[in-house]
Amino acid sequence: MRIERLTLVDVEALTALDRIAQPHHSWPAAHFESALSQAASYQVWGIREDDELVGFAVLALQPFDGELEMIAVSPAQRRKGMGRRLLDHCIAQARNESKERVLLEVRSGNAEAVALYEQAGFIRDGRRRDYYPLADGKREDALLMSLRLV
Ligand SMILES: CC(C)(COP(=O)(O)OP(=O)(O)OC[C@H]1O[C@@H](n2cnc3c(N)ncnc32)[C@H](O)[C@@H]1OP(=O)(O)O)[C@@H](O)C(=O)NCCC(=O)NCCS
Repeated sequence: MRIERLTLVDVEALTALDRIAQPHHSWPAAHFESALSQAASYQVWGIREDDELVGFAVLALQPFDGELEMIAVSPAQRRKGMGRRLLDHCIAQARNESKERVLLEVRSGNAEAVALYEQAGFIRDGRRRDYYPLADGKREDALLMSLRLV
């Protein structure tokens, strides 16, 4: 199991993994291409097992903060610590880049992700009502969370 920075050659594997990891909220390949093409603004980290991509995280570098745009692990590989390893890696990278905080937004109903972030020390800063559209036409709140680095 190793973490490595992904590049444009990984777009296909990333898009395929994202589709199975979060089928209702996956990114189009163009979003990944865009992030992978802007190395100064985005870091895309992947975790492989036996050469197969099984998890990834996208960290956006803003002027003062890092923002975790996405983190996902293959359903077959969950609860083995990979999400936490990817998250810790992104936090360390943001710290290396002298960022003040790591920020993120998460669906209020995504209990696994909220538990992961809280276990890593993120706190809840607020809530955006009805932020995310749902498949049934309803909407779901976003929780705004942050981890202070300095
Ligand atoms: C959220 C996600 C990345 C976690 O990945 P993971 O590799 O299973 O997480 P880990 O094994 O590292 O778990 C770390 C901690 O997260 C929490 N956690 C993870 N899955 C959980 C679950 N199903 N129920 C409750 N807590 C959970 C726990 O606190 C866990 O620590 P513990 O195992 O010591 O109890 C994974 O569930 C996933 O890919 N979900 C779909 C994509 C997504 O929703 N991403 C977040 C929004 S972009």
